[in-house]
Amino acid sequence: MTPSSTVESSFDLLKTKIQQREARVGIIGLGYVGLPLALLYSEQKFPVTGFDIDARKVEALSQGNSYIYRIAAEEIQAAKANGFSATADYSQLSAMDAIIICVPTPLDEYHEPDLSFITNTTHAIAPHLRPGQLVVLESTTYPGTTEEVLVPILEKENPLGLTAARGDSSTGKDFFVAFSPEREDPGNTTVARRDIPKVVGGLNGQASELACAFYGSIFSRTVPVSSPAAAEMTKLLENIYRCVNIALVNELKLLCLRMGLNIWEVIEAASTKPFGFHPFYPGPGLGGHCIPVDPFYLSWKAKEWDFRTRFIELAGEINTNMPYHVLASIGGALNRHRKSINGSRILVLGVAYKKDIDDLRESPSLTIIELLQNEGAKVSYHDPYFPFIGKGRKYDLQMKCAQLNDLGQYDCVVIVTDHSDYDYPGIVRESQLVVDTRNATRAISSPKIVHC
Ligand SMILES: NC(=O)c1ccc[n+]([C@@H]2O[C@H](COP(=O)([O-])OP(=O)(O)OC[C@H]3O[C@@H](n4cnc5c(N)ncnc54)[C@H](O)[C@@H]3O)[C@@H](O)[C@H]2O)c1
Repeated sequence: MTPSSTVESSFDLLKTKIQQREARVGIIGLGYVGLPLALLYSEQKFPVTGFDIDARKVEALSQGNSYIYRIAAEEIQAAKANGFSATADYSQLSAMDAIIICVPTPLDEYHEPDLSFITNTTHAIAPHLRPGQLVVLESTTYPGTTEEVLVPILEKENPLGLTAARGDSSTGKDFFVAFSPEREDPGNTTVARRDIPKVVGGLNGQASELACAFYGSIFSRTVPVSSPAAAEMTKLLENIYRCVNIALVNELKLLCLRMGLNIWEVIEAASTKPFGFHPFYPGPGLGGHCIPVDPFYLSWKAKEWDFRTRFIELAGEINTNMPYHVLASIGGALNRHRKSINGSRILVLGVAYKKDIDDLRESPSLTIIELLQNEGAKVSYHDPYFPFIGKGRKYDLQMKCAQLNDLGQYDCVVIVTDHSDYDYPGIVRESQLVVDTRNATRAISSPKIVHC
């Protein structure tokens, strides 16, 4: 058998296994992205193994429990009944046909990409790589990561001398590589996850075809692009588009407040235009793993090309300033009651970075709580999704969720996250003063409310 026919056969073999739902799927990183993906493949009767270095997650899943609010334990148990298992043992990777990497891509303390999760994972995969496997990176990252970081490690460190399949030529000892970004919008129930088209960029045509077949079995539509870098850039464009437009409305909100205009009314009116306008909404600052973080992956990479991404930097400056604007608004609101932040009892409502989700990452609430504490306020918080806030990468609050009663005891109640379950008329009725950063009290008319 010639090398090319060997590769052709490994390509055909994997394609057939995918079509027959026999391809063994390994998902590395069982967080907000990886766990739902594992469940989707399991639902479609693929044999799925999840890999995570967090022993508590592996343990929880092994016992049929969930650690993500919107995923019910029954879903984990159903997946287990379909053969899903979770492990920290990377040696099981050699049994997988497709390996999907869903590990975090945060910024480091200098606001630069921290690729350590991707590189650690790749170092761990390499010893178990075998010919004909498909490796797909899903973590959001700068254009070039798949080809410049992931592929070289896999090629250098696999013991069989395998190379990534490129062009049309092959060595007969290849594995397939692609990048396919996750595009989920947590908490958004208007689009089912399978209906979010899946962008795929393979290192060569065969890798693209395999990755499209693989994702095509759980997503309604796949969108192949010419390279992993094009797929990486696609994801960043989407997030930068959001980041810049949110900064634009945040800035216009500040102007509207000064001019005595209601930005929400203006956005609603502008949204009636049937073309050329997409609404974005102001808020207390950016949150989540993606929008505050991902654009800086591109800024960093752009420097290599002697290029400054000015929109990203300006948007970052405006969005980063929003929690400080909230602090100033609270100070102003208390001042009108002849009080200062220093010594006031303040309740922050909502610490998740957006409504109806259980994700704290980069939440502006955390910054606002710290800013208020630094000014001498006695801060409490309430969030139905977080009974306790301990220590994270950038905070160490050690606070317990307050009861949502006796709101009159607080000098000010600040709505930072507009969870749907809150009874806003009741909150306004009971409170002395409400600072609303989300327009959650839009239907209520009361002199107690300060919109900010
Ligand atoms: N959460 C979202 O809504 C969302 C949306 C789109 C894209 N993304 C991107 O997807 C990626 C993953 O995000 P997430 O929200 O799922 O993160 P997460 O923190 O919820 O989950 C990541 C998981 O990876 C595990 N992990 C870390 N290093 C590992 C290793 N070496 N081996 C095995 N497991 C390891 C962690 O323990 C964790 O369970 C990020 O790049 C993020 O930017 C996230």
